Amino acid sequence: MIDAVLHSYCVELKLEGIRLRRGEMKICRLVYMSERNTSARFSIKDIVQKSCQNNARVNVTGFLAFDGVYFIHALDGSRTAVTQIFNCIVCDRRHMNFYLISCQDANDRLFPKWPMGLLDGISADARDRLLN
Ligand SMILES: Cc1cc2nc3c(=O)[nH]c(=O)nc-3n(C[C@H](O)[C@H](O)[C@H](O)COP(=O)(O)O)c2cc1C
Repeated sequence: MIDAVLHSYCVELKLEGIRLRRGEMKICRLVYMSERNTSARFSIKDIVQKSCQNNARVNVTGFLAFDGVYFIHALDGSRTAVTQIFNCIVCDRRHMNFYLISCQDANDRLFPKWPMGLLDGISADARDRLLN
């Protein structure tokens, strides 16, 4: 049993060595959930547009899902860039009640091509009632 654990640990270390030799740096992945602020009207398109510009500038990629009430957002990038962006996000009055799901190192990006992909799960009816 111990042998097996040690063996898999050594394999992990070797893989890690290969990854590092290839020059891949670990990235930071932060995932949070938040709730739309019902007293704020906003356009999800504007949020995505602005976020794509800002995120692309600092090589942050990720994915935002919105169902008309809750946001779930995953951000991948350098620790510094992700922290700076998250600091802005939590001060944004368009959403509230933040719940940090995870913040950890990762070897690969989940959505390498998207500065901010969007899963827009909001119905047309809710969009008309709630949002710009
Ligand atoms: C749900 C949600 C997600 C957001 N995600 C990002 C993001 O990934 N990157 C970003 O720059 N701004 C994001 N924003 C917008 C920021 O809160 C803030 O408005 C923006 O960074 C300000 O950019 P500026 O200083 O260039 O005007 C998000 C806002 C909301 C409501």
